[in-house]
Amino acid sequence: TATYPFYGDHQAGITTPAQDRLHFAAFTVSSTLDREGLIGLLSDWSAAAARLTQGLDVSETGALGGSDVAPPDDTGEAIDLPASGLTITFGFGPTLFEDADGVDRFGIAARRPPGLARLPRFAGDALRPEWSDGDLCIQACSDDPQVAVHAIRNLSRIAFGRASIAWSQLGFGRTSSTSTAQTTPRNLFGFKDGTANLKLEDRSGVDDHVWAGADDIAWMRGGTYLVARKIRMVIEVWDRQQRQEQERVIGRSKGEGAPLSGGTEFTEPDFAATGAAGEPLIDTAAHVRLAHPENLGGVRLLRRGYNYVDGNDALGSLDAGLFFISFQRSIDQFTAVQTALAGDAMAEYVKHVGSAVFAVPPGARDDGYVGASLF
Ligand code: HEM
Repeated sequence: TATYPFYGDHQAGITTPAQDRLHFAAFTVSSTLDREGLIGLLSDWSAAAARLTQGLDVSETGALGGSDVAPPDDTGEAIDLPASGLTITFGFGPTLFEDADGVDRFGIAARRPPGLARLPRFAGDALRPEWSDGDLCIQACSDDPQVAVHAIRNLSRIAFGRASIAWSQLGFGRTSSTSTAQTTPRNLFGFKDGTANLKLEDRSGVDDHVWAGADDIAWMRGGTYLVARKIRMVIEVWDRQQRQEQERVIGRSKGEGAPLSGGTEFTEPDFAATGAAGEPLIDTAAHVRLAHPENLGGVRLLRRGYNYVDGNDALGSLDAGLFFISFQRSIDQFTAVQTALAGDAMAEYVKHVGSAVFAVPPGARDDGYVGASLF
């Protein structure tokens, strides 16, 4: 299985070929944490992440090397498992720079990236505070769910007394591909998802749309911005729609994933194409028409979301959907796409119930820690 380095110019888990599983956690920092304490936490997290991503225990003593009469450093459930492509990606929420009372606890308010702010309210938002926001985040992706959970569990254990999990999300299947070497997976609507995504092989596309550059605050260069949206799918209503209607909503065929204007999966959609009665072959409210860069002055995102099922509700409906994650050099890119989706035919079948944004600093140097450029 794959092993990815933790240290580098950029953090891993962004252009890394999307792994199959996710455990994402948002943290609240403790009210007693100060600047030195925050730096200490980021240093401890970095050292642990560098080991975990290589398939090692969280510390040298690990699960079994400590005293018989002390709780082990590592919780142990990944002892026999390889790294399984684990990546650990850290982010800083707007409230880290200035808390709800406007207090700059860590002396970093002046270094807050100008574009880092909560998203505006969008049409149809039904956001719940218990699935929104956060001072810090960790995205753990792996091809083995137990490896991703082990990473979040041990990193939150390290944070004890300094930061605690505010909310977290498991994702069981990727809904995007971020490399041309990957096949396109399917979301819970049964459609291929990730076809027109930014791919790591498109170096100039990634440079132009994903990595923060010279126009951003200096410490963020080589970093990016993460937008997370928990999107509940109204599965039962969707499942009652004719396939033709489902395809109209997306703008692509359900089997091949081809644009309804014709061709195969990777054929460019032709939004001007019309049928016998002069009707557009790709509906004017189709998801892919509204989200396409052609409709948005060239705006693109790197999508990296996951399917989720959080059990069911009291009526026996699956509590399921898409935990949408995208990376972009500016949060404005997400805002532009989501604003354009106000008239999306899909809006009837989805409900945005969680929302968070994070500044994802550049990669850590092997003699440093993640976010060092901020301090
Ligand atoms: C494309 C599904 C939410 C942005 C697509 C495609 C599907 C899809 C099936 C076509 C295949 C592809 O190119 O990947 C969904 C579902 C969603 C959802 C089921 C919610 C449950 C969003 C959100 C955004 C977004 C919230 C951003 C605000 C895009 C973009 C494309 C796309 C940019 C590519 C359009 C193109 O260039 O052709 N989506 N999507 N999607 N989606 Fe979504």
